[in-house]
Amino acid sequence: MSTPSLLILPGDGIGPEVMVEVRKVIDWFGANRGLSFDVSEDLVGGAAYDKHGTPLHDDTMEKAQSVDAVLLGAVGGPKYDALDFSVKPERGLLRLRKEMDLYSNLRPAQCFDALADFSSLKRDVVAGLDIVIVRELTSGIYFGEPRGIIQEGNERVGINTQRYTESEIDRVARSAFELARRRSNKVCSMEKANVMESGILWREVVQKVHDEDYSDVELTHMYADAGAMQLCRWPKQFDVIVTDNLFGDMLSDAAAMLTGSLGMLPSASLGAPMANGRPKALYEPVHGSAPDIAGQGKANPIACILSFAMALRYSFDQGDEAARLEQAVEKVLGDGLRTADLLGEEGIEPVTTSQMGDAIVAALTASL
Ligand code: NAD
Ligand code: IPM
Ligand code: MN
Repeated sequence: MSTPSLLILPGDGIGPEVMVEVRKVIDWFGANRGLSFDVSEDLVGGAAYDKHGTPLHDDTMEKAQSVDAVLLGAVGGPKYDALDFSVKPERGLLRLRKEMDLYSNLRPAQCFDALADFSSLKRDVVAGLDIVIVRELTSGIYFGEPRGIIQEGNERVGINTQRYTESEIDRVARSAFELARRRSNKVCSMEKANVMESGILWREVVQKVHDEDYSDVELTHMYADAGAMQLCRWPKQFDVIVTDNLFGDMLSDAAAMLTGSLGMLPSASLGAPMANGRPKALYEPVHGSAPDIAGQGKANPIACILSFAMALRYSFDQGDEAARLEQAVEKVLGDGLRTADLLGEEGIEPVTTSQMGDAIVAALTASL
């Protein structure tokens, strides 16, 4: 088999900082597990805008389409707030998702035991938590037309459109059911069928896919607002949650706090299988560029490192090595290492981004 290719897009803010730590992990797998990658690096977001005047150069887009997997840090930041909407850093990321057709965004929220007392919720509520939010990523209100800001009489109107086709709902529902079969066989679908037509269609299609092809999986439906409440009240009732683009964005940030910090949450954005059988894929932490802590060595690299673990599992068929990496993270947390976002316990000195990366690499070596 030829060496798998990996395109790294560090992006902005803490993106490049956490990516340095992921590179250490990638190098470790090359040196110790015979798992080498043909790694290339390029610009996205504000960094790409600074060099090319666009948040994603066409050449980078082409490269992303041709590699086995893309790993992205984060995009955005106050420096780019005043830019025209069409060239904002976030547009670069959205273009990648849309043009690679990465419709199924897996956002696991797992509470490591060492952090169970750190969550803003009680230990009982979060200890042992292991759920996945499957967020539809290429449609809905993020991309629906018409959109824009128009003049109407003497005032402006901001317009976005929630829009879902049956096939878009069908394919993301299938990916949620497939995932549930490999887990605890339970899917909860969330929408607002009580107030939105797109929600009515969403519920109907998810139910139809279930009844026709996945009747062995337990399916429930919830209004997304009630779902948000249930996620905070008793998150362990869920296994897989499937929801639309915007609800998935919000519910996954909320789920982050069940695990202790946004700095802990990885994600995989998957599309249809390529000719080699692997899904088109982009892996990225759920968090953003964290301008408030950028450049200070405070960022938690774990979300990005766990995103690479997801790449090992979903793109490179290396489930055992992914588990090895996840266990190394668990070991380091168990040993009491904490970046500043995870502090809460008195008397613990935070470690830096780079110390956390080094400790995870040392735990990998100890696992041999
Ligand atoms: P954010 O996720 O960047 O930060 C929210 C809070 O969480 C901040 O206090 C930050 O310090 C903290 N945080 C986030 N990641 C952390 C980490 N790894 N370690 C420690 N603390 C961490 O969200 P925001 O402040 O709303 O957005 C900032 C910028 O990032 C915006 O431009 C936004 O559009 C962009 N953004 C990008 C992505 C992405 O690239 N996928 C995701 C979300 C937000
Ligand atoms: C995320 C982010 C993105 C989103 C932004 C940066 C485009 O918040 O990945 O969760 O809204 O999807
Ligand atoms: Mn988000």
